[in-house]
Amino acid sequence: MKVLLASGKSAGKRYIDAVDWRLQEKIPEPVRDEKVEEIHPKILKDESIELVFSALPGSIAGDIELELASAGFFVFSNASAHRMDPDVPLLVADINPDHLALVAHQRKSRPGYIVTNPNCTVTGFITGLKPLDVEFGINDVVMTSYQALSGAGYPGVPSLDIVGNIIPYIPGEEEKVESECKKILGRISESSIEPSSVNVIASCARVPVRDGHLESVLVRPKSDASLEEILKAFYLYKSKKSEKLPSAPEKPIIVTEEKDRPQPLFDIYSGSPKRAKGMSITVGRIKKIGDQIRFFLLVHNTIRGAAGCTIMNAELAKLEGFL
Ligand SMILES: NC(=O)c1ccc[n+]([C@@H]2O[C@H](COP(=O)([O-])OP(=O)(O)OC[C@H]3O[C@@H](n4cnc5c(N)ncnc54)[C@H](OP(=O)(O)O)[C@@H]3O)[C@@H](O)[C@H]2O)c1
Repeated sequence: MKVLLASGKSAGKRYIDAVDWRLQEKIPEPVRDEKVEEIHPKILKDESIELVFSALPGSIAGDIELELASAGFFVFSNASAHRMDPDVPLLVADINPDHLALVAHQRKSRPGYIVTNPNCTVTGFITGLKPLDVEFGINDVVMTSYQALSGAGYPGVPSLDIVGNIIPYIPGEEEKVESECKKILGRISESSIEPSSVNVIASCARVPVRDGHLESVLVRPKSDASLEEILKAFYLYKSKKSEKLPSAPEKPIIVTEEKDRPQPLFDIYSGSPKRAKGMSITVGRIKKIGDQIRFFLLVHNTIRGAAGCTIMNAELAKLEGFL
């Protein structure tokens, strides 16, 4: 049994009529003609539903997701409302899978649980940082992002504001990058995450690109590393657990050694096999300058950075026996 839920505005409509799919390739057939219902307390009594995927606006997700978890549902959320709650995992299945264990602590106070995934910029950023953190440790990282329009949802930024322009401000984004990154790289205890001591500085800009966030990253590692060791860390990064997940790409990171890549135009659908297109990030222009590691990374913000990440988190929960 599955149900599609939205606000009263969409209630009673077919999915195809309730959602704007004109910018996507193809509406998924299995849900195309399904009726959309309004989120209503009656769903809380439906025992055939166990798992809820939430893509609610952050401003309303807080209460609704808590109500669902308190009623026994397992909530996997793309919204920001609970990301920084001490006992809620901020999870990227192939980066910090051990943090999922926090749901056991949540279940001491409620029958269900909430698992969140990070902001789209952070999902790519953290995937690029993880191999360096594992191999060399990180003291400081400075990140500058060039973020696509689809990250602001649809219809998003007005065309007159962005055509032929770059906007060096995305409300709340730099703060999210800094705090979410420290939580994901943090150490799990029984009831919370002790944030990483890494010093993160982020500058985020909106650019006139449709999909794909490009990020320029400068890392000061704890221990020195040669360029060969850095390349090896990126090339070989794998997560043993996530390899078994149905939506996982064969490699979370694709390395390009071409001098002018990655680019949104060519590289956003990185990832193999075919079902995992857009699920890998691409890292390129890797350099070692003095004690700094510099590189660019590209993440598909609405695939790897949003729904793809949420789905992989639910697959991990199933693998680990939490579903
Ligand atoms: N776009 C991205 O790249 C991205 C990346 C990462 C995370 N996120 C996060 O993901 C979430 C969804 O983003 P989006 O761009 O998909 O937003 P969206 O297009 O505005 O969709 C929001 C959904 O929430 C429903 N909703 C709104 N108010 C509701 C209410 N009071 N009761 C029940 N349902 C309600 C809407 O239904 P109706 O259409 O019926 O109103 C719609 O289905 C946000 O929290 C966003 O910050 C987005």
